[in-house]
Amino acid sequence: MVIFGASGDLTERKIVPALYYLSRERLLPPGFSVIGCGRTPFTDDQFRAKMQEAVAEHLQLPAEEKAAFASGFGKGIFYLTGDFSQAAPYEQMKALLDRLDHERGTCGNRLFYLATPPSFFPVTIRQLGAAGLARPKDPSCNWTRIVIEKPFGRDLTSARDLDQTVTEVFNENQVYRIDHYLGKETVQNLLVLRFANGVFEPIWNRRYIDHVQISVAEDLGVENRGSYYEEAGLLRDMIQNHVMQLLSLVAMEPPATFLATAVRDEKAKVLRAIRAIPVERVPEFAVRAQYAEGFARGLKVPAYRAEPKVARDSVTETYAAFKFYIDNWRWADVPFYLRSGKRLAKRASEISIQFRRVPHLLFRDTPSEQIDPNLLAIHIQPDEGISLRFSAKAPGPTMQIRPVVMDFRYGESFGASPPTAYETLLLDCMLGDATLFNREDAVELSWELMDPILTRWKEDGAKGLAFYEAGTWGPAEADKFIKADGRRWQRL
Ligand SMILES: NC(=O)c1ccc[n+]([C@@H]2O[C@H](COP(=O)([O-])OP(=O)(O)OC[C@H]3O[C@@H](n4cnc5c(N)ncnc54)[C@H](OP(=O)(O)O)[C@@H]3O)[C@@H](O)[C@H]2O)c1
Repeated sequence: MVIFGASGDLTERKIVPALYYLSRERLLPPGFSVIGCGRTPFTDDQFRAKMQEAVAEHLQLPAEEKAAFASGFGKGIFYLTGDFSQAAPYEQMKALLDRLDHERGTCGNRLFYLATPPSFFPVTIRQLGAAGLARPKDPSCNWTRIVIEKPFGRDLTSARDLDQTVTEVFNENQVYRIDHYLGKETVQNLLVLRFANGVFEPIWNRRYIDHVQISVAEDLGVENRGSYYEEAGLLRDMIQNHVMQLLSLVAMEPPATFLATAVRDEKAKVLRAIRAIPVERVPEFAVRAQYAEGFARGLKVPAYRAEPKVARDSVTETYAAFKFYIDNWRWADVPFYLRSGKRLAKRASEISIQFRRVPHLLFRDTPSEQIDPNLLAIHIQPDEGISLRFSAKAPGPTMQIRPVVMDFRYGESFGASPPTAYETLLLDCMLGDATLFNREDAVELSWELMDPILTRWKEDGAKGLAFYEAGTWGPAEADKFIKADGRRWQRL
């Protein structure tokens, strides 16, 4: 596996710890080798030591396992220093890959991982092609694949341009566009919940479901990523990829099999059925806001505009809420409310399926409006699990109806916390299973939906940008937005 951008944050926080986890679980072959690439110079030993520290920190390894890392997995780590927008380092890479095939028995399979800033994706892809590294060494027994990190483009045009570059060099079946949300256990479990249980699918439609909410809340601010965030904003960072992926999994039709093509076909069909929001009607369907100063975990925190590397008059959104409709038989007229933000009251991601109210209530003195409708909540993070809210009679001589919850928690039921998403996705990719990766058409369809919103927000500038106090649940405008439909945001 070759990691471009190996001196960066993602490599040490996610990729290498995930690889080590897989190797410890004996899911990687003994000769498995990693070549890290970056401009910052390291020797192999320096880079191994850096990775050892990172793995020890992120997986909280005891001292004896650090030694095991050094004598085992660590021996398979190598480093190449160079500017990978230039051709020269690829010759060195080729020679090293061939040497490792020979010395460590890696047998010619190659996985390239693009963990550089996205502006370097096209040049790296072209250089891989020019160096003859994009095709398997021996197609009859080897594979070559490429993992591309998000963001995949910053609008429809740039996503199409990137796709064109990718497909000029690689075949689509070699390309794995990673969205780590799809590797989370609960996200995969959503498919199991829907399609391995008989009770949910018959009621998973407009006849029984009133609306769906998808919330991805973070309590952190932009930290030291101000310049990245100024370019991206919340919509590009969270909605276009993670949240739209969640939406497509909730709403898709049952695929015939759990094979990549079947699942990805259904996801693309849903995205195609989502009603586009015209530029002139964006304010009816979307709210955007930015955090002002406030409190997080008891500490005073600055406004977004006072964060490092953020313009003092920035209009970048750090919160957004949307309403989408899916124009098909299953979902006609069912609103899907999406919201996500930084510096909210807590870190929580959840999909809430709210069922319709009972049509008539037979219990005297308890009108149906006073009874909370059933709610199926799929908790994605931090406590992965699923809960179902229903009504029960409170003990006592009078008929008092109260909501109660049936709870499934991953930790309690299975005794182990699930691996982070990267382990699952890296293994899938090595096994050639693209089910949980994004396909070109889905990426573009999602951008098609985002483009009018981005256009309108850009035109409007500061006009219509709301503000919310850091550490709260977002702007009052978002509450009004959903209240106008007679609904409210679920408490997370
Ligand atoms: N960090 C995360 O949690 C996260 C999560 C999801 C997705 N991502 C995506 O993953 C990618 C990497 O993120 P990151 O946070 O790791 O970024 P980062 O810390 O800024 O690291 C970027 C890496 O790219 C290298 N690089 C840049 N230009 C290069 C060139 N011309 N030739 C060789 N190496 C070059 C840098 O090397 P030098 O520093 O040595 O120059 C560095 O190793 C980005 O696309 C990001 O959007 C990151």
